[in-house]
Amino acid sequence: MILLVGNWKAAPDKKTQAEKLLKSTSVIVKAVKKKIMVVVCVPTVHLGSLAKKNPNVNLGAQNVSLFSDIAHTGQNSAAMLKEAGAKYCIIGHSECRALGEENNPIAQKALRLLEKNITPIFCVGEVQRDVHGWYLSTIKDQLASVFSLLSPDKAKKIVIAYEPVWAIGAKATREATPTECQEMMLFIRKIITDTYSTKIAQTIPLLYGGSVTEENAQLFISQGEANGLLVGRVSLEAKRFGLLAKKIAEYTKPLKK
Ligand code: PGA
Repeated sequence: MILLVGNWKAAPDKKTQAEKLLKSTSVIVKAVKKKIMVVVCVPTVHLGSLAKKNPNVNLGAQNVSLFSDIAHTGQNSAAMLKEAGAKYCIIGHSECRALGEENNPIAQKALRLLEKNITPIFCVGEVQRDVHGWYLSTIKDQLASVFSLLSPDKAKKIVIAYEPVWAIGAKATREATPTECQEMMLFIRKIITDTYSTKIAQTIPLLYGGSVTEENAQLFISQGEANGLLVGRVSLEAKRFGLLAKKIAEYTKPLKK
């Protein structure tokens, strides 16, 4: 199964624009639904109204509170996200890590989400690469933080997104090459195998994210060995996102029933 996750980031401003975008996205979902599972992670403020309008699109949130009790002004608990219609939630996005979020609290957020049957999309990624491969220890530590809290049964229920920070957003220098993506997918699967089992390594979907476009998307799947993609800016342009989905669909086999 190919998992295509859109991350709308902090956009759009208006509810009407959000509804229009979701409507166009649901047309895409319909066209590829036999081959691709599409999720869109939207700003929390839009979640409730979008869930009511479009039950066909899998909706996700972009972060969750670490806490479930009341004394946390400004936070959205997993219970609230569930009630608003979130089935997925991104945690540990590099734009949140850049504001000071650390490994252990992010890992605990995975537990909060799983308690409410929301699938965590746990993001990992190095800020920069070095020729000696020390950046691999960043990924290893990020994964260890969440795996240290998850039993095999819980680990099976998460999604991992590899998003190198240097490849994300408007300031990106470039996207990862399919070979860089493939190496990282192998590295992550090896860590999952060593921590849990080969079976669990085959179960957890691994996504690639960072400057994914309709032109390069299929390479991350066909050569990069990713099970799916986390797409930021392009997911805000329904036409491009649709083309991207179509191109990936050409490279995948239909889901087994
Ligand atoms: P981008 O962002 O596709 O715009 O580089 C990816 C993300 O923020 O997850």
